[in-house]
Amino acid sequence: MESKNNKNLLEKITALCKRRGLVFQGSEIYGGLESIYDYGPVGVLIKNNIKKLWWREYVEKRADIVGLDSSILMRAAVWKTSGHLDSFNDLMVECISCQKRFRVDHLLEGFGFEFKSDKDYLKKVLNENSCPNCQKKSFGQIGSFNMMFKTFFGPYEKTENVVYLRPETAQGIFVNFKNILNSYRLKLPFGVAQIGKAFRNEITTGNFLFRLREFEQMELEWFTRPEDSGKDYDYWQRERLKWYERIGFNPSHLRIRQHQKLELAHYAIASCDIEYKFSFGWKEIEGIANRIDFDLKSHSRQTKQDLTYFDEHTKKAITPYIIEPSCGVDRVFLALLFDAYCEEEVRGRKRVYLRLSKAIAPFKVAVFPLLSNNDILVKKAREVYDFLKDEIYPIIFDDSGSIGKRYRRIDEIGVPYGITIDHITLIDTTVTIRERDSMKQERVEIKDLLKWIREKFD
Ligand code: GAP
Repeated sequence: MESKNNKNLLEKITALCKRRGLVFQGSEIYGGLESIYDYGPVGVLIKNNIKKLWWREYVEKRADIVGLDSSILMRAAVWKTSGHLDSFNDLMVECISCQKRFRVDHLLEGFGFEFKSDKDYLKKVLNENSCPNCQKKSFGQIGSFNMMFKTFFGPYEKTENVVYLRPETAQGIFVNFKNILNSYRLKLPFGVAQIGKAFRNEITTGNFLFRLREFEQMELEWFTRPEDSGKDYDYWQRERLKWYERIGFNPSHLRIRQHQKLELAHYAIASCDIEYKFSFGWKEIEGIANRIDFDLKSHSRQTKQDLTYFDEHTKKAITPYIIEPSCGVDRVFLALLFDAYCEEEVRGRKRVYLRLSKAIAPFKVAVFPLLSNNDILVKKAREVYDFLKDEIYPIIFDDSGSIGKRYRRIDEIGVPYGITIDHITLIDTTVTIRERDSMKQERVEIKDLLKWIREKFD
């Protein structure tokens, strides 16, 4: 098996995504829109499986966590209060020679320097290093850039009509805190979970799905007593790592990196990243933060609304602390492809397959006739497909090209089992089932197929 750390792995995965309908460049036929991607017929199934597994684990299986679906557009005042209008900025610098813009922290990381907010220090490092694009030493002034996408409410583009596309889903949860408490009987500690789109006008992008301008988050805001927040912060790190292992990640490709004081967001007293070992380095796929009572207190001060929780035991109103595991769906999707991508040589030919877990794979099984030009086999294969499709889903039928090509196609999208209807099927009503990773084959009677598949997916 080829090493996963080779440099072109990202290129191979990007090409596979386009070839097999996982992910396409946004607005592609108009020249593409940078760092915007569309999920294709296969990709959307995998992405939905990731979201389903998260939602099932944290909303459906737990009585202490509820769900929410809040809106993308929020009043500008929300973002003023949350600190995003003033603090959700990146330092940016332009190369005067080639006009390419960079995030200063990314440049420093590339040059092998620690990031510090001291402007003199940053200027010195930039003056001593060359632009990665044109190799000239010609960086201009360091500027600050707010990453939120702005738009206008109604027909007039006036300051008072400005609204922002949310850069995180979390604020929708905080501003609904009282609504949720008043309408649903919850006792501390409890969580509110949300999956939805977020938007950031990133300066530097790249690495395919890793840094996007439109992406999806799965965020959980865990409201707890202040004195329990340290223990709960530790609990959520352990729990979230276990979840990644449960959905099929190789544990040796995951690690937790605690943040230094300088890295902390304006609202956090402690935070860490769950990082995945991509071919382009260890990178964040999830952030976990102790946001204390920053958000609830700030919104309460600004709106004059009571955003406290009344503790029946102590008969006191408290503002809960918040532990937030915040995960990027697109980054998890990309990391899963890195984890699953395999190449091997079979009878002198390269075989590419995705070793996705059964819960993540886009289809449970594929059904095909051995020969696409044999009407009797095609008809029988259709019958088997029709018999299975209402009980086991989603499954896929394929009768185009040679059987070899069909296996290649389902291997490349990670379908765990291929069911082939051949001449022997017509004699003894058995089909061949081929397992994706080992390519081992066995014969199973059609009448036992449902039971066989169900046992494999239990
Ligand atoms: N509410 C906290 C928050 O948004 P964050 O660390 O900025 O924290 C959480 O983002 C997660 O969202 C990240 O770990 C990452 O997986 C995902 N994410 C953030 N920016 C992203 C981007 N530009 N493209 C893709 N995913 C992104």
